[in-house]
Amino acid sequence: MTAPAHGSIVRTADPTALAETAAKRLLARIAANSGRIAICLTGGSSPKRLYTLLAREPYRSRIPWQRVHWFIGDERFVPPGNELHNMSMARQIFLDQCAPSANIHPIPTDRASADDAAQAYAHELKSFYGAERLDAAKPLFDLVLLGVGPDGHVASLFPGYPALDERERWVVGVATAPVPPPVPRVTLTFLALCSCREMLFEVAGPDKRAILTRVLAGENLPANRAHASGETVWLVDTSALPEEAGGE
Ligand code: 6PG
Repeated sequence: MTAPAHGSIVRTADPTALAETAAKRLLARIAANSGRIAICLTGGSSPKRLYTLLAREPYRSRIPWQRVHWFIGDERFVPPGNELHNMSMARQIFLDQCAPSANIHPIPTDRASADDAAQAYAHELKSFYGAERLDAAKPLFDLVLLGVGPDGHVASLFPGYPALDERERWVVGVATAPVPPPVPRVTLTFLALCSCREMLFEVAGPDKRAILTRVLAGENLPANRAHASGETVWLVDTSALPEEAGGE
């Protein structure tokens, strides 16, 4: 197989071109909605180039910052400002310079536990959405960004973990992570993540080739279970693609 279980691959020449393609897709998603927009960001290193572009022209002035709201798909259970904190990374790179602070929606990691933080974030998402239940005709997010971990995890939905099969809760606490860093996590479940007009994976660099080979072989991995209610796109640079799928 040379395609992921859901969606299609958009191939780019290198990580720089990949970030530019992601930025253009983000702008197109914004242009498609004249109302309030919700974008779910991702942590890790994959989105950093994209975030850097968003703070610069020609992208910065094309984003209607007042009506775009920024959420995060998963968080490490560490205080804001900590070097492991995903939303702090996005804030430092672009949000704090560009977005009104009321439009930035971090997972509150100042709670007593990851479960408490998950509950609070679910409450915030539901208030923003305006309902307790998701309606397939009205996606929660315009765009969900995702990276893929070395074991095929997305957000903090790890292979074999019960959170993968959560059917009720939008956000859950994850006590232990099987990959570094060894801190508890808070993650949106597929219920919430998949409720989006577009899900955009960013997969770049030769280090991603091994996991991408497994994804494309159709293995039952979290990455192969994640998909949008609308369009699912895998942005992949050539160095991450296995040879049989056209990689270098
Ligand atoms: C996290 C992430 C996680 C990440 C992947 C890919 O908190 O670590 O949200 O799901 O996206 O592990 O990470 P890299 O982009 O660093 O390879």
